[in-house]
Amino acid sequence: MTKGYKMPKGFLWGGAVAAHQLEGGWEADGKGVSIADVMTAGRNGVPRKVTDGVKDGEIYPNHWGNDFYHRYPEDDKLFAEMGFKCFRTSIAWTRIFPNGDEVEPNEAGLKFYDDMFDDLLSHGIQPVVTLSHFEIPYHLVKEYGGFSNRKMIDFFLHFAKTVFERYQDKVKYWMTFNEINNQTAWSDPHPLLQNSGLQLNDDDNWEQAMYQAAHYELVASALAVQAGHAINPDFQIGCMVAMCPIYPLTAKPQDIMMAERAMQKRYWYGDVHCLGEYPKWLPKYFDRKGFDMDITAADLATLKAGTVDYVGFSYYMSFVTKGRDGDSDYDFKEPEDFVENPYVEKSDWGWQIDPTGLRYAMNWMQDRWHLPQFIVENGFGAYDKREADGSVHDDYRISYFRDHILAMEQAVALDGVDLIGYTPWGCIDLVSASTGEMAKRYGFIYVDADDNGQGSFDRSKKDSFDWYQQVITSDGEDL
Ligand code: BG6
Repeated sequence: MTKGYKMPKGFLWGGAVAAHQLEGGWEADGKGVSIADVMTAGRNGVPRKVTDGVKDGEIYPNHWGNDFYHRYPEDDKLFAEMGFKCFRTSIAWTRIFPNGDEVEPNEAGLKFYDDMFDDLLSHGIQPVVTLSHFEIPYHLVKEYGGFSNRKMIDFFLHFAKTVFERYQDKVKYWMTFNEINNQTAWSDPHPLLQNSGLQLNDDDNWEQAMYQAAHYELVASALAVQAGHAINPDFQIGCMVAMCPIYPLTAKPQDIMMAERAMQKRYWYGDVHCLGEYPKWLPKYFDRKGFDMDITAADLATLKAGTVDYVGFSYYMSFVTKGRDGDSDYDFKEPEDFVENPYVEKSDWGWQIDPTGLRYAMNWMQDRWHLPQFIVENGFGAYDKREADGSVHDDYRISYFRDHILAMEQAVALDGVDLIGYTPWGCIDLVSASTGEMAKRYGFIYVDADDNGQGSFDRSKKDSFDWYQQVITSDGEDL
């Protein structure tokens, strides 16, 4: 056993999921179609397709997820057995507003989350809720062009206020947009759709569209923060960024400058969320690129007035980049400008494994944004083998978590980072966001379902279940 550092009293140990990846019940009780419902199954190295509506003969894994919609009481018991203090999930926007532009919410959808949150609370587990986690109503994409349209700010705000009002006594910790900075890879259509509901044509300016959509999201987030605090001053409302620090390949000054620009391009969203203003380099960049942005003085005042209470972030991996000879623009482009890191191992999906990067990133964010942090995702997607007796010996997952939790604890105990909690991703097996597979498993709890939705969907404990239980029981000391 590795000796770790005890986390402070009240530290929120738990687990994380997102509604569309585990609930299933995609048409239950009046739910509408979300963008996740028109994404087909992909595979390792094979991207998911986005169909024009739900089509016969296609496989849509989010339609069944892991069937949490019908089985959550059983799952909550298992979370409680592990000792969870909190459970991060999202509210499927389409359960509350099936099309997204209705005035009145769907009562059956609201009731589902009432019951589910009550069940968690009865086990002493507090819900931590993301408002928009890759599941914008599909109708808003088709009719309004997603967040390319300023009207989306009002639709999002109406949704946010509705659930803030309804769950004000059940949920304290909220986040607005999941991994808002994933769309930095703007030349890939998937993050543009998942984050912002954008479906662009070849002749559109994709990069400008991304910055514009992100701006509207940031304004929507700032308005939601203000509305939430007015409804319940005790609310803690955070942002959520995908934290993958980007290192320079060497000490060559051009590599260092490129890595700096890469960090600026990936984390300006956090600057706006946390500091309430655009960083100086970005308007210059818009000018240089000739981007004609719709950013008003009123928007800038809103951003300043709606800064977040904490930084929620995911951490899976780090990246590396290098400068280009003779190029002084340093127009870092993701993922083209990433290079291999010769010093770290990778998962089967090519994700670089770098626990020290987590400690580095936590220090970097503390110095830059001066806010409490919440690690709301971290984990190891792997092919698990279920033995004949039902056991899963996932020592590789335990080893990943041991190293990352130790790095997290060092950041807190040795570096003074202010950390609210830790919720490992996919604490129960669910559908992968990037590939749509069940085979890419993250859980402490195994779900007997395959990529085509075949199986009993029965739950069983992996070896990592007992290990994580011991971590929580010892408050992080026994790793
Ligand atoms: C994050 C997302 O990108 O990483 C989750 O917030 C996602 O929704 C998780 O599932 C892991 O990624 P993947 O592609 O392995 O499911």
